[in-house]
Amino acid sequence: MTSHEERNRLSWNAATTAHNAQKGDQVAFFRGGGSTLFPEEVALLGDVNGRSLLHLQCNSGQDSLSLARLGARVTGVDISDEAIRFATELSRDTAIPARFERAEVVAWMEETEDRFDIVFASYGVLWWLPDLDAWARGAARVLRSGGRFVLVEFHPVALAFDEAGRPVDDYFATGPVETPEGVGDYVGRSGEGLGATVPAVQPFVNPNPSVGFQWGLGQVVTTLARAGLTIDSLKEYPYLNGWRRFDQIEERAGRRMHLPGQPALPLMFALAATKPPLVSPSPKP
Ligand SMILES: C[S@@+](CC[C@H](N)C(=O)[O-])C[C@H]1O[C@@H](n2cnc3c(N)ncnc32)[C@H](O)[C@@H]1O
Repeated sequence: MTSHEERNRLSWNAATTAHNAQKGDQVAFFRGGGSTLFPEEVALLGDVNGRSLLHLQCNSGQDSLSLARLGARVTGVDISDEAIRFATELSRDTAIPARFERAEVVAWMEETEDRFDIVFASYGVLWWLPDLDAWARGAARVLRSGGRFVLVEFHPVALAFDEAGRPVDDYFATGPVETPEGVGDYVGRSGEGLGATVPAVQPFVNPNPSVGFQWGLGQVVTTLARAGLTIDSLKEYPYLNGWRRFDQIEERAGRRMHLPGQPALPLMFALAATKPPLVSPSPKP
């Protein structure tokens, strides 16, 4: 594991514990039929029933289990020990079957012999990748021919502004971006938008710094295409699902977080792609 990955693993371990402590009884949530998915990914993923689905950087597995409940055969991969521990227990305690693997996601995709009908990633995954090319190649590698890739992600434009809405980061600077305060308590900050129902006992201070990488939209699309995927659709949205990224956020129906009172900016995007089917050679005359 590189030093970046190791730092992020530790930072995510601490943050994941803090996040889950504020989410109340998640077993009861799932037993009561709850789902953490948003309509954007549900629509793009289509019918997942009976499909094998790889969930990249699945964190504590809430979305993975929501997909498993729709009938997908889910494998979730994440670098955080705490996230995978939590996901594995949640799967057991809710009796929603899924496989969870603690691993660095690119290395895992490079090594596995498994192949999937769908590869899915969402909401805060690209920032952690020092090598977007390798990630995209890995996703293309583990997809079956004809398989579908779906990414729903916060827009890189939204990451170029600070919480007060001031432009602070160069959109085109890739990184690494050192974050001495580590992964923060964005769950507590977002409240029910991200499933926090129990207030934090005390403000969360992450003892472990993190490091991230900014990827512009052009880089994302070009990298996926270069990895051999055919881009089917790319849509930008003027809101963020769940995340109170900015102080001025106004929450609207469906946990959609808008920036009111200024010209609309793209705050989220969703991309769907396909691994081209194998073309069988035409029979010799
Ligand atoms: C914002 S969370 C993604 C949330 C996720 N979509 C969900 O369903 O809850 C980002 C995740 O990326 C994971 N991560 C960061 N770097 C990673 C890496 N190199 N390999 C695997 N997982 C990584 C973190 O541990 C964290 O769980």
